[in-house]
Amino acid sequence: MIELQAVHKNYRMGAGEVHALRGVDLLISAGEFVSIMGPSGSGKSTLMNIIGCLDTPSQGSYRLEDQQVSTLSDDALAGIRNRKIGFVFQSFNLLPRQSAEENVELPLLYAGVERRRRREMARRALERVNLAERGRHRPSELSGGECQRVAIARALVNQPALLLADEPTGNLDQKVGREITGLFASLNRDLGMTVILVTHDPEVASLAPRRVRLLDGLIVADERE
Ligand SMILES: Nc1ncnc2c1ncn2[C@@H]1O[C@H](COP(=O)(O)OP(=O)(O)OP(=O)(O)O)[C@@H](O)[C@H]1O
Ligand SMILES: [Mg+2]
Repeated sequence: MIELQAVHKNYRMGAGEVHALRGVDLLISAGEFVSIMGPSGSGKSTLMNIIGCLDTPSQGSYRLEDQQVSTLSDDALAGIRNRKIGFVFQSFNLLPRQSAEENVELPLLYAGVERRRRREMARRALERVNLAERGRHRPSELSGGECQRVAIARALVNQPALLLADEPTGNLDQKVGREITGLFASLNRDLGMTVILVTHDPEVASLAPRRVRLLDGLIVADERE
């Protein structure tokens, strides 16, 4: 499903350059659940942004479901994101003035799904994360764990093949973090979604059958159970 070959990413920084990725090769099959660990600055978010088509490599090739995406335009990348990929971030990124349901509906709005069907799909996604009865609440009326569930519902409402999570438990206490990680595991197990999860927490990482480690922009370990 995901095929990265010799991927480099350089960022301009004033006069100099940062080499955030320095030749990453990575193959991930449909239906895998992979965790990514590594010290701060090792390139985890850079890698996730490339996999998620939020950014493109400076060098190297990225194929997603047999489509070469490293050379696509921004518009084409946005289309792929909308159809194939769900994102969850550490900071939830919910719209504060919209209800949980409205937040979950957003990707469907962009995809041009009509209103009745949006409502129905949003409700189903909220049920999937055990938050059906909180649909009318705004983010400020929800706990951190509940906000992250809303963000997960929003990420899966389009039924994307690929779910990406960049430190989704980083703002949550350990118990709630475990529940959220369990939710990712069940989306992988029950719905067959391909899940890639970045974390600093070894316990969270150990729930994934495959664990990748980054160091200074390179993959230094790739373990499977
Ligand atoms: N937009 C950017 N412009 C310039 N440099 C960047 C940019 N994004 C990341 N970097 C640099 O690239 C390197 C890798 O950053 P990245 O955010 O991928 O690390 P990370 O592993 O996600 O770290 P953390 O665990 O702190 O989130 C760092 O040196 C960072 O400063
Ligand atoms: Mg990061």
